This record gives sequence, C-alpha cells and structure tokens, in this order.
Amino acid sequence: MSDSKSQGGDQWGSRIGVILAVAGSAVGLGNFLRFPGQAAQNGGGAFMLPYFVSLLILGIPLCWAEWTMGRYGGTKGFNSAPGIFQTLWKNPLAKYLGSIALLIPLVIYMYYVVIEAWCLGYAFNYLTGDLMLGENSKEYSNFFDKFVGASADGALFSEGGSNLLVFLIFTFVFNFILIYRGISKGIESFCKIAMPIMVICALCVLARVLTLGSEKVSAGLGAMWNPNTDYLMQPKTWLAASGQIFFSLSVGFGVIINYASYLKKDDDIALSGLSASSMNEFFEVCLGGLITLPAAFIFLGAAATEQGTFGLGFNALPNVFAVMPGGQFFGFLWFFMLFIAAITSSLSMLQPVIAFFEEGLGLKRHASAALLGLVSAMGSGFVVYFSKGMVALDTFDFWVGTMFIFILAMCQAVIYGWIFGIDRGHEELHRGANIRVPWFVQLMLKYVTPGFLFAIFIGICITQGP
Ligand code: PFF
Repeated sequence: MSDSKSQGGDQWGSRIGVILAVAGSAVGLGNFLRFPGQAAQNGGGAFMLPYFVSLLILGIPLCWAEWTMGRYGGTKGFNSAPGIFQTLWKNPLAKYLGSIALLIPLVIYMYYVVIEAWCLGYAFNYLTGDLMLGENSKEYSNFFDKFVGASADGALFSEGGSNLLVFLIFTFVFNFILIYRGISKGIESFCKIAMPIMVICALCVLARVLTLGSEKVSAGLGAMWNPNTDYLMQPKTWLAASGQIFFSLSVGFGVIINYASYLKKDDDIALSGLSASSMNEFFEVCLGGLITLPAAFIFLGAAATEQGTFGLGFNALPNVFAVMPGGQFFGFLWFFMLFIAAITSSLSMLQPVIAFFEEGLGLKRHASAALLGLVSAMGSGFVVYFSKGMVALDTFDFWVGTMFIFILAMCQAVIYGWIFGIDRGHEELHRGANIRVPWFVQLMLKYVTPGFLFAIFIGICITQGP
C-alpha cells in the first residue's frame, strides 16, 4: 500500500475547496430547520448553554480527531472508514466498527434526500405561485399532506396526485451526477458555487425578516432567544443540544473522516477543521437562528413555537411568506437555498459509501454509483411509499440519527484517544498546520469527550428508550 496517497488518487483541488465541501456537508436542513425547532422546544436562549458546551467538549475536538484520522488513513491508501479504522487499530473488530460509518450516512441519505426533494418542490411551487395560499394555516397543512403523499388524494402514483416523484427523481439524478464526477470535479466544484449562493439567499431573506417592523421583529427574536432556564435542569435539553451539535457539524457520521482522506499528507487540517466548523456555526446561529422561528412568530404568534421541525419548515414558513410583502420571491429564495444546502450535505452522505464500494468491493466508479443508486433509491422509495406521513422518519432518526451516532462517536473517541494515542494524534494534527491547537484538547479527547458521550448515551437509553 502506498504511503503517499490514497488508492483512487482522487484529491481535493484546493484548500478553500475542502473547507467549503466540509462546511457544505455541515450546513444543511439541520441549521435552518432542526436547530430553530430544537431551540424553541428546549428553553430558547437557555438551549445555547448546553449547545455551546457540547460544541466545545464534543463537536470541535471530535471534528479535529476525524480530520486527523481521515487524513492519516488517506495517506495509508484508504478512503473508507473500515480501512481507515483498520490502519488506526490493528484489530479485526476495527473494520466492523468502521462499517457503522457507512451505514449511518447511507440510511440518513435515504430520508434526507426525500426532504431535499420537498424543498425543491416547494421552491418550484413558489415560482408558479401555487404556494401563495392566503392566511388560513389549514391550507398549508393540506398542501403539505397532499405533496408528500400523506393524504388519499395526494397518493404518489395516482393520476392527479402529488408530483413529488418528479422532484425526487431530479434530486437523485443531480446528486449522482455530482458524485460520479468525483471529489474535485463534482463535490468541490459544486460546493464552491453553492456556498456563496446560499449565503446570498439567506442574507436576503434575513434582511427581509429583520425589516418587518422593529416591534414585531423584537417579539420574534424574543420567541427564539429569551432564555427559559428551567430547561437547563432537564437531561433532555442536554441530549437535544449534543444531538444537534453532531447532526449539524456532521460529526460522528463518518463523513469528515472520508472527506479528510482525500487530503495530502502535509495539507493543513487544524485551521481547515476550525474554519469549516465556524462557518457552520455562522449559518446555524446567525442565519438559521435569526430567520426561521422569528419570522414564523411574527406572523403566527406563539403557535409557531409549538410546531415541530417539519411543521415549522413546511407549514408555518409558507404561511408566513404568503402574507409578508414580497413573499413569493422570498419564499422561492428560501426553499431554493434549503435545497442547495441539502445537496451539499447529501453528497457527503453518499461519498463514504461510494469510496467503500470502490475500495472494499473493487468496483469501478460507474458500477459503484449504479449500485449505490439502486440501494438508496430502494430505501427512499420505501420511506416515501410505505411510510405515510413519514412515520418511519422518527424511527430512523432514533436508531440511526441518535443511537448509532453516539456509538460511532464513542468508538472514534476511544480509537483516537486510547489506541492511536493522543501524542501521535497531536503530532499528526499539526503536520502542515497553520495554527497550534492547545494540548488540553488532546486531554479532553482522551478523557472528557468519551465520559460526556457515555453520560449522554446512558441518558438516551433511560429517557428515550425504544
Ligand atoms: N449536517 C447536515 C445538516 O445540518 O443538515 C446533516 C448531515 C450531513 C447529517 C451529513 C449527516 C451527514 F452525514
């Protein structure tokens, strides 16, 4: 196995490219829909305390660990987690643990891509004006039920039913074209265009929301940010905050490990990792946190805070755009931005699996893409067709989106801190680095992060057991 470069030879073209690709993976529906929903349901501004504690103890350290392990594995010739884990821990168990890092992104992709298609469909329906349904909130839930195929007359395969299938097929094909083109020509080129477009669209919508009248705006911001400190005493708030950090930073999914494996041996990872995470926090706190819930509250009042993530995104916000000045245009911008944000994330869920098919099964790129297309299309078809009203989402979200992520994150922390070793880790992190990361981060990775993860894991088992 060559010691200098990964097998497929695919590599990032530029430093900014890899930062934007990792940030693109991180910035997604989680920032604009999941985060405001979680904050609103867990104490508003008070949620930010466990959120930032989790960011500092779990998010950033594990992010650095993933970048380090990924680049190390890449220089040993591996791009997929089973191979990378095996180079870090010479034990047959390692590759089985690594396979969790394939399963998680694949399963998440199967439902994430469906929501991505909803966003595209909603953007399209703003263009045609079909989502300007007036003030009655019932109209929006009816539209949603019909669109996702949850109501009888919206059945996906019936005549005159929902056209979700068209958007789903388009979204799938778009993802697979980019994945097929590879790391630098596909993912990197797209993220370099997509990230600036996302910032521009989000800033336009933010400007619109913040100029709706100062009294209304401060009430809206208060609904999102006023702290209710009672929530700090509840374990569920801490679970929600750490879960949000994982989901949002794309940490604990095996995607950063995979992306980092396409770096060269001396490429910086310390500053790149920090830059990508900081970019994600900007999108989440400054854009997601100031747009979604405040806008919904301004027009819908307290009812907005009671909506779950999907209710907020696909019922409340369309209702808001329908009544705000210039709503059709801003509604289009918003859902188009969500669609792009979701694509840059879903690409990062597919790439680890493609890498495994190429590396582990010896398939060529087109065969890997075809196989992955088939498997994921069957999974998404199952989610859409059999799970009316997307009930399967909750089950998937619990098992794959919560349990497995904590297990994988725990494995990563232990492999990094206790097997690979924090001395080697520290040295590896600083090869080619543009900043110095304090030593206590390594100590944290060895002791505090696994301890905190373990406490949370027990918390999940006690409070949310199946
Ligand atoms: N970080 C993405 C978001 O906030 O929407 C979600 C995500 C991306 C989850 C990549 C999992 C993943 F592998």
